[in-house]
Amino acid sequence: MRIGLLTGGGDCPGLNAAIRAVVKHGEGTHGHSIIGFRNGWKGVVDGDVLPLGRQHIRNVLPVGGTLLGTARFHPNEANGGLEAVRATLAAEKIEALICIGGDGTLHAASKVAETGVRIVAIPKTIDNDVAGTDLSIGFHTAVNIATEAIDRVHTTAESHNRVMVVEVMGRHAGWIAVAAGIAGGAELVLAPEEPFDIDEVVRFLKHRHRAHANFSIVVVAEGAAPRPGGSMEFTTQLGAYGEIVAGAVGERVAKEIADRTGFDTRVTILGHVQRGGSPTPTDRILGSRFGVAAVDAVVAGETAVMTALRGEHVELVPLAEVAGHVKHVPEDMLRTARVLA
Ligand code: F6P
Repeated sequence: MRIGLLTGGGDCPGLNAAIRAVVKHGEGTHGHSIIGFRNGWKGVVDGDVLPLGRQHIRNVLPVGGTLLGTARFHPNEANGGLEAVRATLAAEKIEALICIGGDGTLHAASKVAETGVRIVAIPKTIDNDVAGTDLSIGFHTAVNIATEAIDRVHTTAESHNRVMVVEVMGRHAGWIAVAAGIAGGAELVLAPEEPFDIDEVVRFLKHRHRAHANFSIVVVAEGAAPRPGGSMEFTTQLGAYGEIVAGAVGERVAKEIADRTGFDTRVTILGHVQRGGSPTPTDRILGSRFGVAAVDAVVAGETAVMTALRGEHVELVPLAEVAGHVKHVPEDMLRTARVLA
C-alpha cells in the first residue's frame, strides 16, 4: 500500500518523531511505501512528493521542525483545492493519507475525508487546543521553553524591582500561559479563557508591591483580551495572513500597568522561540506513539479518525468530533493559577 503523509500549519518540535514512526512502522513493519508531501496540504495540491525511506529519518528524533516542511494552506479554502487533492492522490496511487496538524489542518482533513479519501490525523500544535486529546505534539516543549524564560525573567525583575510582562503564544486557548505561569510562579496569568479587567490587574499589583514585593511577573497569552466595557479598549490585532500580531497585547498591557501604577515595567515577547529547537522526550514519545497508532489505524482500515492521548492510552477519535472544536484550559487549572498568584 502507498500511504501519504503531510505536516500542516505551524511547525513544532516532535513532528519529526511522528514522521520517523510512520516510516519505521509503515515501511519497516508492514512493507508499505510512505509518500511524503512537502509543505502540508499545498504539497498535495501541487503533487510535490518526497518518497520517504530510512535515509530521511536517521537521527531526526532530537531535531525540531518538520523534515517535510509545512505551510498554512487549506485545500477546502482554495478554488478547486479538494479536486486537486483527489487528482494527486489518484495519480500517486495513495490509498490513505496521514495528516499531522492543528485546527486548520484537521478541519481541512475532515473536509477531504468527506470526499471519500481515507484519512487518519495526528494532533500537533504548541497551543494544545485540539479537542479530544489530552496532549498535542509540541505543547510540552513550548511549556518548557516558556517556563525557562519566565525563570530567567524572574531574576532580572527582582534585581530591578520591575513588573515584567511575558507574552506567550496561544491564539484561542491559554494552555501555554497557564501551564508556564504556574510552573514559573507568575503573579498573574492573562488567558483567552478569562477576559481580564485591567483595573483588577492594577489593584492586585499595587497591593502586592505595597504589601510585600518589589517585582512581579505577568504572563499574557497572545490571544488574551480585556473584558468588553472595561476601562481598557483593545481588539486582538491580526496580520496579513490572519496571524495574531506578536507583542500587541503584551505591549499594551505593559503600558497600561506602567501608566496606572508608575511601576518600572518591561515586556518580553517569546514568539516563535516557543516553536523552535529540540523536542523534549515527552514530545518525542508522543510523536512516536501517535505515528505508530496512525499506521495501525490505516492498516486496520480506519478513516476519518484522529489519534488521541486519553490518560495513559492512545485511542482513535472521530475527526468530525474534534475538527473545528477548541479545547480550552479547564476551570480547575485556571483556578490554580489564580490561587497561587
Ligand atoms: O498554531 C500555533 C501558533 O504558534 C500559534 O500559537 C500562533 O498564534 C501561530 O501559530 C503563529 O502562526 P505563524 O507561525 O504562521 O505566524
